[in-house]
Amino acid sequence: MHRDPPSARPQVTEYYKLSEKPPSLRKRRTLIFEPAILNLNSSPVDETHLNKQAGSRRRGSAALPGPPFDKTHLKKPAHSQRPPPPWREEIRSVLISRARLARRVHALARQIEKDFAGGDLVIVALLNGTVVFLADLLRGLSLPLRLDFIGVSSYRDGAGSGGLIFTKELRLDVSGRDVLLVDDILDTGRTLSRVLAKLRPLQPRRLKICVLLDKPARRLEKIAADYVGFTIPDEFVVGYGLDYGEKYRNLPFVGLLHPRIAQGG
Ligand code: XMP
Repeated sequence: MHRDPPSARPQVTEYYKLSEKPPSLRKRRTLIFEPAILNLNSSPVDETHLNKQAGSRRRGSAALPGPPFDKTHLKKPAHSQRPPPPWREEIRSVLISRARLARRVHALARQIEKDFAGGDLVIVALLNGTVVFLADLLRGLSLPLRLDFIGVSSYRDGAGSGGLIFTKELRLDVSGRDVLLVDDILDTGRTLSRVLAKLRPLQPRRLKICVLLDKPARRLEKIAADYVGFTIPDEFVVGYGLDYGEKYRNLPFVGLLHPRIAQGG
């Protein structure tokens, strides 16, 4: 079983604050640690120079497994980090673009395919935040698998993890099978700890965790995911399945809410 060392995962460490300066005056300072997908030895990439570096990155990644290097987004100007017009009132900035999501999900699928080949795989996804990520991940997986869901809900409607209730129980038999537990975000770790405590007694042959996002700054439980899409800073994120008060799940990118929305303004 291959497992990314945390340093090899794409890290979203900085992003634009749109209120800072107009795009023409803004100095690009997005620092993205994206190890060219599955290349575990690459170094941080400063997107300031990506237009110039596109050729060399492409050459550098040519020998790597995974998708061809997609440079379409590199041609966009710095202010492409602005959300599309319908979302500008509510979303402060784009943290992870649609193109980056697509590339990373594709790479995760390749890795999962390799690790679970020849097994008897059951994907257990947590409702509701995984729906978009899961749909893309599933379509990228070319191996036989079964799919089931566990419904988990927090007592509260908005941000944060309150008390948990299970709204749907697992129906498939996972005993003696490989289980890949999929969640949208690993934050405090309370949700996944509760779910693991439910799954372990069912005696799966292997039990691994895949999350789209990892927010290690807020961790309260000793838990780590085996497959991580992106490690993100301590910010409340929405989109690509993640919600705030059940809204924003349909955003095709992961974004940051305007504080006035998060504060109920
Ligand atoms: P814990 O803290 O239990 O969190 O690891 C897991 C669940 O809490 C929700 N969550 C978020 N939802 N943006 C969201 O839209 C966030 O930044 C966020 N942080 C935690 C989410 O449902 C996750 O499964």
